[in-house]
Amino acid sequence: MSSEATPIRSLNEKVGQEVLLQGWLYNRRSSGKLEFLQVRDGTGTVQCVAAKAELPEEVFARCASVTQESAVRVRGLVREDRRAPSGVELTLTNLEIVSESRDYPITPKEHGTPFLLDHRHLWIRSQRQHAILKIRHTLVDACRSFLNAEGFILADAPIFTPNACEGTTTLFETQYFDEKAYLTQSGQLYNEATAAAFGKTYCFGPTFRAEKSKTRRHLIEFWMVEPEMAYADLDDVMRLIERFVEAIVGRVLEERKEELKILGRDTAALERVHPPFPRLHYNDAARILTEKGLPFEWGGDFGGTDETVLTEGFDQPFFVHRFPAAVKAFYMKRDPEDDRLSLSCDLLAPEGYGEIVGGGQREDDYDTLVSRIREQDLPMEAFSWYLDLRRYGSVPHSGFGMGIERALTWISGIEHLRETIPFPRLLNRLKP
Ligand code: 4AD
Ligand code: MG
Repeated sequence: MSSEATPIRSLNEKVGQEVLLQGWLYNRRSSGKLEFLQVRDGTGTVQCVAAKAELPEEVFARCASVTQESAVRVRGLVREDRRAPSGVELTLTNLEIVSESRDYPITPKEHGTPFLLDHRHLWIRSQRQHAILKIRHTLVDACRSFLNAEGFILADAPIFTPNACEGTTTLFETQYFDEKAYLTQSGQLYNEATAAAFGKTYCFGPTFRAEKSKTRRHLIEFWMVEPEMAYADLDDVMRLIERFVEAIVGRVLEERKEELKILGRDTAALERVHPPFPRLHYNDAARILTEKGLPFEWGGDFGGTDETVLTEGFDQPFFVHRFPAAVKAFYMKRDPEDDRLSLSCDLLAPEGYGEIVGGGQREDDYDTLVSRIREQDLPMEAFSWYLDLRRYGSVPHSGFGMGIERALTWISGIEHLRETIPFPRLLNRLKP
């Protein structure tokens, strides 16, 4: 059915030719003798102009009554039009209604977010959502391309796991036949095994956090890309993170100009993203927060507001490194210069966005790791395979995780991360 159709994206190569479009009616405007049909096909949107004087009566009648989101096939002549976003317009010669759409719920009027989220399966057809998700596509591809080109081997981690990675308070418990299992919070522990097998690896998949937070930065299910390197320390991983972030932002700027424009993104802020990124020691970050009058005490983790305030001093992404070990996971290696601190780092995005990456150097000493597991009251038995990695050829190793939706929220310059995934899982929202 689609063989002879032209994707709207490539209409500008067909100026002066008759084409067939297959898509849906995005919007319609009329001025009596003319009907302006906005047709979308997923690759783009184009205006098709139907003139009463030039069309058979029944064709024009269809054009004048076709409803929003009806599936349509349109024939027409491609004309150059410099004012149009796509650079072209179509002079319509025929319209076939493949299937009618009655009372489409999302109209051009304003709808509240709960209503739109309830209709997410339809909301993703609208221009802004479409733009965000296309950037997501490019971002994901850019992450994979960068790591593949750097020699990282894709080695995905399981989703059903027998133990916690990022603390027991946010675990989703489920039944695995006769055993208890948990949905993964991060593939990192498995990455440490694959890095010892392949040197440089990454996993890329959905992760789950039963976090009772209803903020613009939290999803219950989100996608994380997690590289891990053997023979690498904290500095090595910070250098990898900044090159990685530069590369993925660069790809989006290159390939998604149009979408960034639809979102009204100030691209100058993205053009500035080049290493080296500033590096802020936790102690200095804590001092800044206290100086700015925030009720922050040394030793604590940053809240959303703390992060937002910290970003005010920077117009580039920046690292905060060496967080107190007490607020980080059990696997973090301690700072040899101050045992209270860990060899960890977060990358914070500017413009108030905050943490997009978390990473660091892992504890590679068997005895130290055993005592960390004990201190945090974690089930030793479940970690015996993980401890093996310290028994058999342990080396310094480091890695990081970047939440795709956090990164995309910042890159797209949008307010809330719920729009960055096709079907968001939020606190109290499992539908559609
Ligand atoms: O800082 P986190 O918890 O670090 C880890 O999970 C490490 N094991 C990663 C590693 O070193 N391999 O999470 C990493 C990133 C955060 O920086 C953030 O971008 C994202 O995952 N993230 C979330 N994104 C959306 N919703 C949530 N609830 C998130 N929690 C973390
Ligand atoms: Mg973190």
